[in-house]
Amino acid sequence: MLIYMDDSIFSETAKRVKASEIREILKLTQKPGIISLAGGLPNPQTFPLEEIKKIVNDVLNSNNNGLQYGLTEGDPELRQYIAQMMCKYGITCNPDDILITSGSQQGLDLISKILINPGDIVLVEAPSYLGALSAFRSYLCDFVDVPSDGEGIRTDLLIETLETLKEDGKKPKILYLVPNFHNPTGITTSEKRRKEIIKIASDYDLVVIEDNPYGELRYEGEHLKAIKSYDTEGRVIYLGTYSKILAPGFRIAWALGSGELIKKMIIAKQAVDLHTNTFGQRIAALYSQNYLDKHLVKILNFYRIKRDVMLSSLDEYMPNECKWTRPEGGMFNWIELPEYVDTKEMFKDAINSNVAYVIGSAFYIEENLGRHTMRLNFSFPKDEEINLGVKRLSEVIRRWL
Ligand SMILES: Cc1ncc(COP(=O)(O)O)c(C=O)c1O
Repeated sequence: MLIYMDDSIFSETAKRVKASEIREILKLTQKPGIISLAGGLPNPQTFPLEEIKKIVNDVLNSNNNGLQYGLTEGDPELRQYIAQMMCKYGITCNPDDILITSGSQQGLDLISKILINPGDIVLVEAPSYLGALSAFRSYLCDFVDVPSDGEGIRTDLLIETLETLKEDGKKPKILYLVPNFHNPTGITTSEKRRKEIIKIASDYDLVVIEDNPYGELRYEGEHLKAIKSYDTEGRVIYLGTYSKILAPGFRIAWALGSGELIKKMIIAKQAVDLHTNTFGQRIAALYSQNYLDKHLVKILNFYRIKRDVMLSSLDEYMPNECKWTRPEGGMFNWIELPEYVDTKEMFKDAINSNVAYVIGSAFYIEENLGRHTMRLNFSFPKDEEINLGVKRLSEVIRRWL
């Protein structure tokens, strides 16, 4: 039976959301023989299977077996552990400031739910994480983007933008940032910019969302203090996740915020799903207490090799006309080609040459930006695939120069 529905039945949100162009493009990358540098998944070889098997038994055999309803805020032991772990980034907090969420993605949704009215302005870096843009967009916000460079968001341009908006009588509410090993660029926001950002947020009364899913995956250098660590006014909401340090399938993450912000998020979450799955939270708690530190050493060594293979392959094969980032951690490299090369047009050629990437323009609000850029992933492919993939890609690029 064919059901016909007039578009008018749908909410304004449903009318605005659209299938992602990337999803369609990524379907092409499933073709056999293709080396995909387009994904963004953690490598399943890093999932601690043996440890999880043991923990599952331990959880089931314990009094709190994780099969009952739980608190909306989340498992107390897990929140306690996370509160301590946050010291690594210079954040002093207590477990009451932490809400366990079903992935950071839910954190982004809950923040949007409590803060965004239709037409509110959200400031984002250009380029920016697509999942966050979709979450904010669902609440009918308007976006204003601010370019970033090798040190993160351009704070001079951020102030300029805020001043222009002020002259037009507009007052943005939220600034969304991914300060460590950014998705898609791999860039880390410098300490200087972090301090400037908190000052700007205070001067212009912004809530900052500090989204840090990749922070633990640092392959060189020291952890930088989080923007949240400089926050004396409770205007930063920090998001962390177990997706890259345990396994994304558990959907265990956390939001860390102060006072009313986190309280409202808790109330909002109650209406969404009561709480994050208790069994997964118990597993994350025991895993953190008993295995996380050792496991991190293992996966950092594993991913560091992949990052290095990616960088040495780029050095070896890419034409001089291209530039790329040298991420100190995370999962992604960002490549810039000469401006006359459109990576969307080039994509078919790449697929025919059995290599795939994500077109850079997909990460921008404004359609005309980033047409000559692309994101490459090094966490998922095998080492030899990274090398061969970059070799194939550089041959494709040479044809378009
Ligand atoms: C910047 C950023 N934020 C949030 C997420 C979502 O993470 P989670 O699996 O915790 O929902 C991702 C996932 O890739 C991401 O790259």
